[in-house]
Amino acid sequence: MSTRVLTGITTTGTLHLGNYVGAIRPAIAASREAGVESFFFMADYHALIKCDEPDRIERSRLQIAATWLACGLDTRRVVFYRQSDIPEIPELTWLLTCVTSKGQMNRAHAYKASVDANLAAGEDPDAGITMGLYSYPILMAADILMFNAHRVPVGKDQVQHIEMARDVAQRFNHLFGKGEDFFVLPEAQVDAEMELLPGLDGRKMSKSYDNVVPLFEGGAKALREAIARIVTDSRLPGEPKEPEGTALVALYDAFAIADERAAFRAELRAGLGWGDAKQRLFDRIDAEIGPMRARYDELMARPERIEDTLQEGAAKARALAGPLLQRLREAVGLRRFQPLAAPARDAAMPKAAALPVFKQYREADGRFYFKLSAHDGRTLLQSEGFAGGREAGEWVKRLKTEGAAALAGAPVQRGDGVGEDEVAQALAALVAAAG
Ligand code: TRP
Repeated sequence: MSTRVLTGITTTGTLHLGNYVGAIRPAIAASREAGVESFFFMADYHALIKCDEPDRIERSRLQIAATWLACGLDTRRVVFYRQSDIPEIPELTWLLTCVTSKGQMNRAHAYKASVDANLAAGEDPDAGITMGLYSYPILMAADILMFNAHRVPVGKDQVQHIEMARDVAQRFNHLFGKGEDFFVLPEAQVDAEMELLPGLDGRKMSKSYDNVVPLFEGGAKALREAIARIVTDSRLPGEPKEPEGTALVALYDAFAIADERAAFRAELRAGLGWGDAKQRLFDRIDAEIGPMRARYDELMARPERIEDTLQEGAAKARALAGPLLQRLREAVGLRRFQPLAAPARDAAMPKAAALPVFKQYREADGRFYFKLSAHDGRTLLQSEGFAGGREAGEWVKRLKTEGAAALAGAPVQRGDGVGEDEVAQALAALVAAAG
């Protein structure tokens, strides 16, 4: 069976080199592996939680879609879509919301951080906190569970969300699964690559630190300008420099093979000037992303082509989401009404009255028994006594679901004058009725 890998990017801004090195590049590489089915999407419902500027949302989702495509995503191999094109996701969000404990959401880091900030500022704890922010992890759980993803590559800050998705999946399976599991329990995959890329000042590259190197926006010029702002020490050209631990070398490493990394270090130790080193860094990065930037610009000039690609992706995604959601709706009781005369699926319906029934009971000897009685009251099967009721119940469950196949090894005897065929038919009727 193939492994499903799923990840999303919130569409509130443009992407930087850290997003490329940490998320997009490894995700695309992984999507080319055999045995992997990838799902990549624009988390634009999540974007609404953080941003109330419609134009910015619109632009960001286009830019992020164009970025994935420009970086070489093969949309025939992966399912690539916008979250907001999949109405099954908000519907699943509601089903999950109804089995998610509020106490658990109270413990979500992002929500707690907002509460703490309010308290520190002497405000009401919930000032400015929307239900969107509060329920963010449930929407994210729906993203993941909708496609039964096994692995979810994310940054460390998202690990708690994946754990919450596992919990809610487990609860739903337990409450409504009746032995069948609807949801795979997903696992977070936190790669070292996702954390390591430093920004201009050596801290993790992040918009919130204003230390990012843009990926495509602003063109080669913006890349060059950002690189010029990388913080270095004040050693002059000709003076030996210590490469390890510098942001400049860490950025270089992210784009270089082992030989190039070693050569760059040797040159710095031999006195390469920081200005020249920055030029090398620019050349190395631009060799990789320059051709992608050209594709990006072409894509951005033809948004309607991206729209078509995303519509195809949405169709693929919905072909998977629709049937699962249908099963979930059935499971929770959102079913179509059936005419009463039609063959009943429910044990309470008229036809079911003619079905044989299992009865479990305890005898004076303190042991637990069950028997299968025909609709006219004759005993078809009689069990031996069990020490515990649970064991008896398990046999009943197996016989009801597996039918005569479960008879081999079952501690039961046929009733007087009852043939094998009659028992087999009775069990088959129960299996069919359980549907
Ligand atoms: N919350 C993620 C982030 O901000 C984005 C996201 C939304 C996501 N849904 C997801 C990531 C599902 C992985 C899987 O980074």
